[in-house]
Amino acid sequence: MNIDDIIRFRRSHFVKEFNGQIVPADLVHRMLENSNWAPNHKLTLPWKFRLFQGEEKDTLCSKMEQFYEQFTPAEKFNSAKFDKIKSYKSKVSHIISIGFHPSGEVSEWEELAATAMSVQNMWLTLTEHPNAVGYWTTGNGTGSDFMKVATGLSPEDKQLGFFLLGMTDNKRTSAHRNFPV
Ligand SMILES: Cc1cc2nc3c(=O)[nH]c(=O)nc-3n(C[C@H](O)[C@H](O)[C@H](O)COP(=O)(O)O)c2cc1C
Repeated sequence: MNIDDIIRFRRSHFVKEFNGQIVPADLVHRMLENSNWAPNHKLTLPWKFRLFQGEEKDTLCSKMEQFYEQFTPAEKFNSAKFDKIKSYKSKVSHIISIGFHPSGEVSEWEELAATAMSVQNMWLTLTEHPNAVGYWTTGNGTGSDFMKVATGLSPEDKQLGFFLLGMTDNKRTSAHRNFPV
């Protein structure tokens, strides 16, 4: 694959598309290794990723269920959405929690930008595999103190969501963009 295809074929695939199989460990490790090659001002390496797999992944999924039950107002509670979260345990292979540590050496937005670039590196690493997929969710308690604790972040850190990883039988490559003319 050339760089144009790698960039243009990268897609978000959602949990309903996952088949429950496990993403190969060497691919997950390459994703994490490649994440470290994102540009970052003053080389503060602000991103703080944590990989959840196996029982730890199931525990984090239980916490996502708990968060939804505990913090969703009764009038907004959606049982289909809750069922979707409950499907994570059997469908999601790994979860990479996404956070960063503001170093104080450069502006916080620069470290947020560097962390997003780091996530892009992980995401692009998935592109060449025929069945491994994922997406960045900013639901499931993103940014909350509850999820900072659940993902091992300190109170001063920022929690930016989760990269949910899985395998799919039907990997998509095409997408639509409404580019301005
Ligand atoms: C920072 C960020 C947060 C996102 N959060 C969500 C989310 O919470 N739920 C969701 O369904 N998709 C989420 N997405 C995925 C986008 O919906 C997706 O990238 C977009 O639809 C374009 O599709 P593509 O990634 O296949 O090109 C997020 C993407 C980014 C970059």
